[in-house]
Amino acid sequence: MHQFIQNSKSENQIFDVKKIRQDFPILNTKVHGKPLVYLDNAATSQKPKVVIDAIQKYYESQNSNVHRGVHFLSDSATNSYEEARDKIKNFINAKSSKEVIYVRGTTEAINLVAHTFVKPKLNEGDNVIVSLMEHHANIVPWQIVCDEKKAKIKIIPINEFGELKVEEVNNLIDEKTKFISLVHISNSLGTINPIKKVIELAHKNNIPILIDGAQSVCHSKIDVQDLGCDFFVFSGHKICAPTGIGILYGKEKLLEAMPPYQGGGDMILQVTFEKTIYNDLPYKFEAGTPNIAGAIGLGVAVEYLQNLGYENINTQESKLLNYATEKFSKLENVRIIGTSKNKASIVSFVMADIHAHDVGTILDQEGVAVRAGHHCTQPVMDYFKIAGTARASFSFYNTLEEVDILEDAVKKGIKIFLG
Ligand code: ALA
Repeated sequence: MHQFIQNSKSENQIFDVKKIRQDFPILNTKVHGKPLVYLDNAATSQKPKVVIDAIQKYYESQNSNVHRGVHFLSDSATNSYEEARDKIKNFINAKSSKEVIYVRGTTEAINLVAHTFVKPKLNEGDNVIVSLMEHHANIVPWQIVCDEKKAKIKIIPINEFGELKVEEVNNLIDEKTKFISLVHISNSLGTINPIKKVIELAHKNNIPILIDGAQSVCHSKIDVQDLGCDFFVFSGHKICAPTGIGILYGKEKLLEAMPPYQGGGDMILQVTFEKTIYNDLPYKFEAGTPNIAGAIGLGVAVEYLQNLGYENINTQESKLLNYATEKFSKLENVRIIGTSKNKASIVSFVMADIHAHDVGTILDQEGVAVRAGHHCTQPVMDYFKIAGTARASFSFYNTLEEVDILEDAVKKGIKIFLG
């Protein structure tokens, strides 16, 4: 199912979903008297106890500011914060920890690159290429900088299956193309894009490229050196870590040449009113007190995923995707939106003319949590001429029984609305 599966030390272990579910306390929740069936993992994943414990431990026994104190607690917090960065470096196989910048999340990372790397290079008439299936977070920042510099956005089209028309990329690239920013896995369609192909095309034309990995790090082993992309961005909260922490990976030589995004404490070496000398990487981009507990939590989360093994994660998620797709394909009045051959465990669907929010509300009554709406991808909805979808997004801790409950809830909804 995925492009970047790598062996993990635990891949031969038996993947016991029932046991794994015990790692996630929230999965025992009852909703309207029924067991929670959490299928909104593309919006945010649930958190295992080890991550929750690490955050609690930080506040109970380490809470202090990083890089600033000479005292015991500050040392302890700084060590854990930097150890987490090393774990994340290994997780994505960056060359150096200097290439791993803590940010709030994917959105902030894209804005950072748009404003500090791309905007200074843009002139009137230049263009930035994105695809039609981008999340708004990979559209609006480009609109802001392009508007300011009188540059244009060019759009890679998609087909009726929700697949990228990759053959169009070459036609879109011209001598005025300054940057490409592309989503790895679509949050509303589940499509896995052939990013390696697009990265190669970009580089053949000397164009730097950013990959939005918000939806891919939870499903695929990411190796930024193997991919060769210039920037790769993702959010912690979609991979079992807390909200408010994410990563901007950038090639060291590019990050070195970029000006800071925000000014403040920790991003400087020396300040006088005449001149300020900026700090070295990665701190140059980390102004102000960071999300220390979040970073530590992210370090624990990536270890947790590595211990589970991406091979195991992929196998379980493929099972769920295939089972759900088969069931939904047979349901009358239900249409799956996004039927790419290469797809992650996301099933977006519309039910006759029923509003997606009504579908979501009915499913909630059965304990089933899905996202309903345009999923911050309005151009995708416009393309398919729909207002929104209901979206079930599966994680490795979901079960086939939960797919059955989802199916029953959908059937119940059809009955209520269509008789
Ligand atoms: N981007 C997140 C989603 O797809 C919030 O739900």
